[in-house]
Amino acid sequence: MPEEKKLAKYIVLEGMDGSGKTTQTEILVKFLKENGFKVLLVTEPSKNPIGKLISEKLLKGGFSSEVISLCFAADRMLHFEETIKPALREFDFIISDRNFYSSLVYQPLYGSRYDWIKELNRYAVKPDLAFIIDIPIDVFMNRRGETDIIFEKEDFQKKVRKGYLDLQNKLNDDFVIIDGARPIDEIHLDIRSVVLRL
Ligand code: ADP
Ligand code: TYD
Repeated sequence: MPEEKKLAKYIVLEGMDGSGKTTQTEILVKFLKENGFKVLLVTEPSKNPIGKLISEKLLKGGFSSEVISLCFAADRMLHFEETIKPALREFDFIISDRNFYSSLVYQPLYGSRYDWIKELNRYAVKPDLAFIIDIPIDVFMNRRGETDIIFEKEDFQKKVRKGYLDLQNKLNDDFVIIDGARPIDEIHLDIRSVVLRL
């Protein structure tokens, strides 16, 4: 994929389920918009047909790790071509709730080989800034609602947390690790101060 001339800053918030990504992306987008920036909020899995297939069907279980890995990579590529690429010229910021880092962390835990996942995502666009919101497992367990079935089991989330913290050693990319076990406003102030330095 040829390198696109980028104008928008592409920022991703990553972290385990329940770490506060959605909360923080929404507050960040609101703050940037209130300050006059043109901002696009995106998520992965995306809202395109492959993303919908993943969210509505594949994540419910019963599909092989290989099928899921390929669909996440295909969703990401289509999402880049249809949404991110045109938006790079139109917006000041593109804020993404997850990106290919999620595949590098989760898909090996579901049984796919890390090197294969890395190769599948070779052309995924690199962010200008990547946050990992980190919470300890006890905070994760306390935050989890009694009836919340989307959260995975404690042992799995421990591996996800480790997977994120290990990413720094596996890749050359820079990550800003954010302590997500603090009040929402405090976390937001940290995130926004890094974003405004871009
Ligand atoms: P994610 O998108 O990473 O899964 P969410 O933003 O949806 O996480 O947050 C998961 C739950 O935790 C939600 O109920 C949210 O209101 C709550 N939450 C998010 N951030 C904090 C925080 N800093 N302190 C306490 N609760 C939080
Ligand atoms: P998401 O809707 O962001 O969940 P949450 O709000 O709980 O963080 O993502 C759905 C699930 O998909 C989540 O468990 C992480 C997983 N996922 C992957 O396994 N691979 C990927 O590439 C992505 C983007 C998400």
